[in-house]
Amino acid sequence: MTASGVRPGDPEFPADVASVLTRIVPAAGPFASEVIFHRTLGSTSDEAARLAALGAPEGTVVLADAQTAGRGRRGRRWHSPARVGLYLSVVFRPPAEAGSVWSTTSMLTLTCGVAVAEAIREVARLPVTIKWPNDIVVEAPGSGSTAQPEPRRARRRKLAGILAEAAVGGERLQHVIVGIGVNLRASARPVELTDRATSIEEETPRACDRAELLGAVLAALARWRTRQIAGDTAAIVVAWRALAPGSEGTAVRWLQDGRQRQGTTRGIDETGALLVATEEGIERIVAGELEWE
Ligand code: BTN
Repeated sequence: MTASGVRPGDPEFPADVASVLTRIVPAAGPFASEVIFHRTLGSTSDEAARLAALGAPEGTVVLADAQTAGRGRRGRRWHSPARVGLYLSVVFRPPAEAGSVWSTTSMLTLTCGVAVAEAIREVARLPVTIKWPNDIVVEAPGSGSTAQPEPRRARRRKLAGILAEAAVGGERLQHVIVGIGVNLRASARPVELTDRATSIEEETPRACDRAELLGAVLAALARWRTRQIAGDTAAIVVAWRALAPGSEGTAVRWLQDGRQRQGTTRGIDETGALLVATEEGIERIVAGELEWE
């Protein structure tokens, strides 16, 4: 395998992935047209960013069997051994007239969250939900009394994560790389993830085929990105809210300037910011780490 990876037609390109791509090209268009496979990479997002800087078009996908330096949000490591996960990164090129870097990246994050959650629901038939901003989780009802409507409590285990990274140059957004990692099978995880992570295999007895899941993710990305480009962001927000029940009525805590804050989630606004009711009024949260009850 060359350092630049292989494309469909190359004998080293996975045959199952090639056959799914051929099937979905009519629906997934640009998201199934330029898929580059590597057996091992540091991070698919680094490679996608390198290609984007060289002019790769929107929809270019970098896929790897394993990553040696997979990264997650807030500088965390994304555990990426071979054969246990789906690891891919996708190049997006927001139009020049798009809004601020934050609002464009935020809307793309919501769009991709909806697409990945829908794909997992369709292929694995698991009722995954989204935890703001974009963790795909499996929820088990918590021990809270059902007679008390709120705050809502649930035990959540993360099954997939999405990382959107924007590149700005010459005062405008050049591209956004969206990295997607889905845990397919159980693996020896770092001890700090033992209670917080899960995989499709651990949640359902039905087998989930990596190539089929990839095809469903790419088709869903194409579907939702088309709506976003057409300006139908309201539909994306509506779909996101329906997939994220915890964004309404869940107790959350966070640190702000060294001060412990707490409140109850009140949904997202039309830009993707999380609204939290606190004793001091409604807070609009655009980034950061929240602890969820
Ligand atoms: C998160 O922390 O929830 C985001 C995880 C994103 C992981 C994926 S795996 C493919 C891509 N390459 C990376 O290095 N990270 C993303």
